[in-house]
Amino acid sequence: MAEELDIKTGEKADVYESLLPQIKALITGEDNLIANLANVSAALRQSFNFFWVGFYLVDSGSELILGPFQGDIACTRIIKGKGVCGTCWEQQKSIIVPNVDEFPGHIACSSMSKSEIVVPILKNNKIRLILDVDSDRLDDFNQTDQMYLEQLAQIISESLCD
Ligand code: SME
Repeated sequence: MAEELDIKTGEKADVYESLLPQIKALITGEDNLIANLANVSAALRQSFNFFWVGFYLVDSGSELILGPFQGDIACTRIIKGKGVCGTCWEQQKSIIVPNVDEFPGHIACSSMSKSEIVVPILKNNKIRLILDVDSDRLDDFNQTDQMYLEQLAQIISESLCD
């Protein structure tokens, strides 16, 4: 795969449709997780200009640890059940937060972040990673983002070792 993205402009769905196969090609054949997550973060940020894109890794039974990301520095550890990411881990489902100020316990890494979507990435029915995407605009994520980011989660899951 050429190390350059062909970035579409236009409707969100069209951008995701063009991007996901490119991401799949980018990470297929590379088994280093850190390298792959770093490139996925960059690909999403480049394509949509999101404020922050990154991954939290399940580090133990009770904590997430910050993984590869693109954007401002972020909190290093998140306890299970805390914040949007910790809630996603606990509930094992994607969460869309239209206004972060209205999410009880939201962990603010930057006051610029206004809305957020988090998606769990599972392998063998266990959560291994959380994808976190932040926007500096209110209500920036919808079911289209959720559907395609869950497809992306599946692509990443297939690249994980057991
Ligand atoms: N807002 C997240 C914390 C991570 S940062 O947004 C990068 C949360 O509440 O879990």
